Amino acid sequence: MKILLATQKPFSSVAVNQLKELVKAKHELILLEKYREQSDLENAVKDVDALIVRSDKVTAEVVNAAANLKIVVRAGAGYDNVDLQSCSDRKIVVMNTPGQNSNAVAELSMGLMIFLARNTFLPGTGSELKGKKLGIHAYGNVGKSVAGIAKGFGMEVSAFDPFVDDSVMIGDGVTPLKSVNELYSGNDIISINIPAISSTIKSINRDILDNLKENVILINTARKEIIDEVDLLNAMRRNTGIKYGADVMPDCHEKMKEFGARYFATPKKMGAETEEANVNAAVAALNQIIDFFETGNERFRVNK
Ligand code: 3PG
Repeated sequence: MKILLATQKPFSSVAVNQLKELVKAKHELILLEKYREQSDLENAVKDVDALIVRSDKVTAEVVNAAANLKIVVRAGAGYDNVDLQSCSDRKIVVMNTPGQNSNAVAELSMGLMIFLARNTFLPGTGSELKGKKLGIHAYGNVGKSVAGIAKGFGMEVSAFDPFVDDSVMIGDGVTPLKSVNELYSGNDIISINIPAISSTIKSINRDILDNLKENVILINTARKEIIDEVDLLNAMRRNTGIKYGADVMPDCHEKMKEFGARYFATPKKMGAETEEANVNAAVAALNQIIDFFETGNERFRVNK
């Protein structure tokens, strides 16, 4: 089978070499790295059977150009970059690799917390994480990892996730919360780890942002689309204690600069950019494809 690894933001060479080793004589691995145009991807998929991507956009045009495509694996967690409907219409299986890069994202969340609590390391007095109340929005793989690390810092951890049983959080020493409002109004630091789906786009809006504590730190290592940026700007102007740290540069980045050390965004998405996460996600993606072709295993399928 022809398997295309298409990554605008390439995996590390260690990860790519492991993929080459894994496919060996059985399958063919084709690389398309650092490509510039969507048309490059559309051309590259023409005769492939499987596609591995990161945040690369698997649009209807890409799917339509790929006559032999049977499976797409998003090597990572969020699959908002894949047109699921187009894939389903063609009976193409779409999978992600949940949990494989979550520790890397969680560690970055903690790093952003410290960076903002210390006023982006500008001279002056910052604050510690120890003893602070941390609220985690969504208790998936990343949220759970953030909770574990934060407890090591001596933080008081709570979480809101209507899809996770309270007993799971309680078992981790995390207090389950009953509502989004309780989460955002009652914590000193909030780690946002929700996926970008229709119900969450712009869901962090005025209703929530107006009720934040005075000196709250918001950390978004999820997606920029989940925050209403106009409401965020207004909230940060009104409540001059709010700090915002993001692994995804918001569209209003230039305007956010007015907040100085109260704002920081990574220039590119860095959450999963560790050697370990690259290897874990890339190898899992390829193994899932090989398993799918050999046994029909669809365990991590995300489309119908
Ligand atoms: C994910 O959804 O897995 C993370 O956001 C990482 O995305 P990336 O592989 O594009 O860095």
